[in-house]
Amino acid sequence: MSDDLETLRQETLAALAAAGDRREWDAVRVGTLGKSGRLTGLLKELGRMSPEERKLRGGALNRLRDDLSRAVEARGAEIEAATLNARLASERVDVTLPARPESQGAIHPISRTMEEMAAIFGAMGFKVAEGPDIETDWHNFSALNTPDHHPARTDQDTFYLPAEQGSLRERVLRTQTSGVQIRTMLGQEPPIRIIAPGRTYRADHDATHSPMFHQCEGLVIDRGITLAHLKGCLIDFLRAYFGQPNLPVRFRASYFPFTEPSMEVDIGWSRKTGEIGGGGDWLEVLGSGMVHPRVLANCGLDPREWQGFAFGMGIERLTMLRHGIPDLRSFYESDVRWLRHYGNSPLSPALLHEGL
Ligand code: DAH
Repeated sequence: MSDDLETLRQETLAALAAAGDRREWDAVRVGTLGKSGRLTGLLKELGRMSPEERKLRGGALNRLRDDLSRAVEARGAEIEAATLNARLASERVDVTLPARPESQGAIHPISRTMEEMAAIFGAMGFKVAEGPDIETDWHNFSALNTPDHHPARTDQDTFYLPAEQGSLRERVLRTQTSGVQIRTMLGQEPPIRIIAPGRTYRADHDATHSPMFHQCEGLVIDRGITLAHLKGCLIDFLRAYFGQPNLPVRFRASYFPFTEPSMEVDIGWSRKTGEIGGGGDWLEVLGSGMVHPRVLANCGLDPREWQGFAFGMGIERLTMLRHGIPDLRSFYESDVRWLRHYGNSPLSPALLHEGL
């Protein structure tokens, strides 16, 4: 074989051996056997040779091409195997490593209470309804039988906003979730069974009041609804929520503009130990009543045909009682240690308590 062919062979084999990855290997392959490769160039020169020369040179060139093709192929397979092995080694999964902790976060106790309320009332056929935090003065007060200058408005001072353009209705950050009653009655035909958990606002701030807090409203409208339904429903709810099938519950006459008659609901507890259930003392936990005929009429319902009851409760308050949380402000401080202590694993669903 002539020297130039031997040089080409040695150089190509050396370059192949030095090629460390697919890209380098491909450069050698194209540089030798490709369209403008060195060997291809030599083969093209054959055409200009005499038949004698061509025979000699052609045979040598063909042998070289076969040898180099095989060498290229073999090195390609080697590189591919080496690349695969390297990947397998670097991406190996160590199945003996301990599992990562499953839950990094926790469900805030407020959210948890809302979920539990939805679960308990859901089992009694209630749906969850929503309303806006920025409510019209009309939905929040007037339609609930609390007209301008009504003394009940002073108990619920809030944050006022101008009316929306094109509307005469001034707006407020809602002081109660009771406005969702109005929205629901205007938006759907009875029978109605809803609860409405959500944020509420009042111009108040101390250890037991926060300018932003949460309530859960309830509303039932149907034919022939009586106080007995209200009592049965709320007793069942409180016993399920506190997990005490015999929890003492007391209904005490009270006043709300949008219910008649109205009642506050107390549960048995001990003033001395704070324990829920026994102790002979009473603790107020929610407000309720039969929906006032004027409220029904404001929503286009004939009070002679439809009756109903409503109730409203503070979510923070019920959560504090259930879990023994002493200070309302801790709910909003985002203290991770507090959350870890009082929060729930996101993986455990809201449990339905026995007895429903
Ligand atoms: N909205 C009342 C409050 O914020 C709570 C309430 C009382 C709601 C009686 C009701 C009800 O639906 O019937 O104090």
